Parts: sequence; C-alpha cells; structure tokens
Amino acid sequence: MSEKPPRIADIMRVSSHREVYEPCDDSFALVDALLADQTNLINHNPNLCMEIGCGSGYVITSLILLLKPKLPNVHYLATDTNPIAARVTNQTLEAHGVKAEIVCTDIASCLEERPAGLVDVMVVSPPYVPTPEYEVGMEGIASAWAGGENGRSVIDRMLPVVDRLLSEKGWFYLVTLSSNYPAEICLMMRKRGFAWRILVQRSTEEENLVILKFWRDGDEVSLEKETSTASLVSEFSRSLSSFMEKQWR
Ligand SMILES: C[S@@+](CC[C@H](N)C(=O)[O-])C[C@H]1O[C@@H](n2cnc3c(N)ncnc32)[C@H](O)[C@@H]1O
Repeated sequence: MSEKPPRIADIMRVSSHREVYEPCDDSFALVDALLADQTNLINHNPNLCMEIGCGSGYVITSLILLLKPKLPNVHYLATDTNPIAARVTNQTLEAHGVKAEIVCTDIASCLEERPAGLVDVMVVSPPYVPTPEYEVGMEGIASAWAGGENGRSVIDRMLPVVDRLLSEKGWFYLVTLSSNYPAEICLMMRKRGFAWRILVQRSTEEENLVILKFWRDGDEVSLEKETSTASLVSEFSRSLSSFMEKQWR
C-alpha cells in the first residue's frame, strides 16, 4: 500500500542543530494559519512563495506540502541570516522530497530587486521577543528570537521590504506577540495600503501569539480614509475579541 503524502512537514523528519531555532509554538501557529487558509491559498494560485527566517525549514516545507498536490509548479524561496539554518532547511526539504532556493542573507538584501513585485505569498515568523537592542542580530541561536525594543527591530525593518517584494495580489502571513503591539504593525501596513485580518490567536503559558494576514486593499474608499492610531487599536481589539469569542463557541 502506498504511503499517503504528509499534509505538512513531519516533525520527525525536520532536521535540527543546536544553533538553529527548533519549531516551537510560533512555528506551529503559523503552519496552522496556513492550513486554515489552504483552500484560499490554492485558489490564489501563487507563482512564487517566500519565507524570511526559515530556521529549520519546518514552515517552508509545510507550505510546499500544502500546495504541491494541487499546484506542482510553484517556486519557493527562503532566507535566513544563519548559514547553519540554511543548511538545516535544505536537509529538511530533502527529507520531504521537495525543493526551494535557500539564500543566506539579512531579510532579502542579497536578492536585490530580483523578486521585487513577484512574491505572491510571504510567510514570516520573525525574531519577536523583546530584548535589549544589542542582542539583535548577534551570532548564534540568540538571533532567532532577539527582537530588540518591543520585539520590533527586525519586524519594522522587514515591513517595507515585504511591501516591495509582494506582487499586486501578494499575501503576507506574519507571527506577532501581543508585546509587539500588533495593532501598530497593522497601522503601519494600513499606511502602505494593506488590509489585515487575524487568522490564529493562541495563548500559551509564555506568550500570546497572533498570526496576521495582510493583502493589498483594493478598496479606494477605505484607503482614502485617514486611520488614526486610536481607531485602529480599537478596531484591532474588537477583531481580537470577536475572534476569541468564535474560538470558544
Ligand atoms: C523565530 S525563528 C523562526 C524559524 C522558523 N521560521 C520557524 O518558524 O520555526 C526566526 C528565524 O529568523 C532568522 N532571522 C533573524 N534575523 C533575521 C534577518 N534579519 N533576516 C533573515 N532571517 C533572520 C533566525 O536565524 C531564525 O531562524
């Protein structure tokens, strides 16, 4: 009897190294968000999908496995600053019989303008833990989580790059913590013309995770409306409460 292909990466086949971030609650919540959005992703029919900060390769491998049965010709690209993560991601991809181009770089800097305006799906679980600023980008495993003030150093640098890389129909899935002030991130993206939605909310003993999805807002009327910080924060709180209510019903 032939074995059924896995829907997402098999954690037992995900390669590991002590200097590489091991899949954790944030990685699982991001893959759950992709699973919840699988049908939409397939209908979205992406040509190029990308991950920034691929770590062990758990997320990019899961994304490939989710799309591959219906969309076998999608291209995948992933980056990480950690050269060992790049190697480990390649091993994870190979263990699942799938392929992606892995580039060792800061965010997407050494790709230059190559994928600009071409990325249809971007997924990111950034280093989001609030830490002293000097820990950001340090060598070794600390760079996997060290996010500087409010955990936002890398996230804030990433947002304009993501805007530049995403295609007109591009979707962006981002892991945030409540201590990253996700409403502020939504406001920053709003100012760049993006709409947003909460896809997954998860509270663990250690952290409150919110997985956000962004897309370019085609609604001229809502784009012309000036969004104040206060109104976006209350819109975000309402959205989060109604999301949590639905979850517990
Ligand atoms: C929280 S871990 C997530 C790893 C993996 N995506 C997952 O969900 O298991 C963040 C990853 O981003 C990488 N990273 C940190 N700063 C980066 C940067 N400036 N550019 C690209 N990758 C970065 C880290 O090396 C780490 O692998």
